[in-house]
Amino acid sequence: MTTIERAASGIADRPAPPPRVTLEAVGAEAWAYCHWLACSNMTPYLERRGQRWNAGAWLGKASSREFLFVIADQSRAGFVSTHDDPDNNALHLSDFQLEPQARGRGIGSACLELIADIARGRAWHGVKLHVFRDNPARRLYERHGFRTIDRGFDKLTLWRSIARPLTQEGHLA
Ligand SMILES: CC(C)(COP(=O)(O)OP(=O)(O)OC[C@H]1O[C@@H](n2cnc3c(N)ncnc32)[C@H](O)[C@@H]1OP(=O)(O)O)[C@@H](O)C(=O)NCCC(=O)NCCS
Repeated sequence: MTTIERAASGIADRPAPPPRVTLEAVGAEAWAYCHWLACSNMTPYLERRGQRWNAGAWLGKASSREFLFVIADQSRAGFVSTHDDPDNNALHLSDFQLEPQARGRGIGSACLELIADIARGRAWHGVKLHVFRDNPARRLYERHGFRTIDRGFDKLTLWRSIARPLTQEGHLA
């Protein structure tokens, strides 16, 4: 059936529905995959600055982070890692990494809302992250309510406030 025939019969080409996205907690057994993906995604940004990926630094911080696989329509699309940041009353999003073929379909968008739900569930006031100035992900963060709170030479610190639920007494949690 041609496109015109499909349109005429009422089955016009429509964009694919957004994938169903969930986050699944994983342990240290997943670090090798997460390290590989973070390294391959972020190396171009470092190379542009004449720097190299620092595997030791990344692995050194891994034990203080929570790792979650991003599952889209039942397939692994990438991972996120977070850590609680009580000094800033925030959940810090440390890694946000999708495989190249999974990008541009709304998966990252769904993840940011799930991450906000986690922060809300822990009664943190916000979600915080760092992003390279030249990373197109900045547009996605801005669409999800992140604002720049600090401007470094290479990286920005972004913050998204979390609406807090009310306690039984009617106060903000
Ligand atoms: C950032 C990322 C998680 C977003 O997930 P996604 O599923 O592609 O995002 P969505 O489909 O929901 O939204 C698309 C938006 O993602 C961003 N984006 C698209 N391609 C991107 C890429 N290669 N790198 C970074 N951000 C990208 C853009 O803001 C885009 O919006 P635009 O179309 O208006 O430009 C994903 O693109 C990725 O893993 N990128 C490489 C790793 C990275 O840069 N992570 C962020 C570190 S701070």
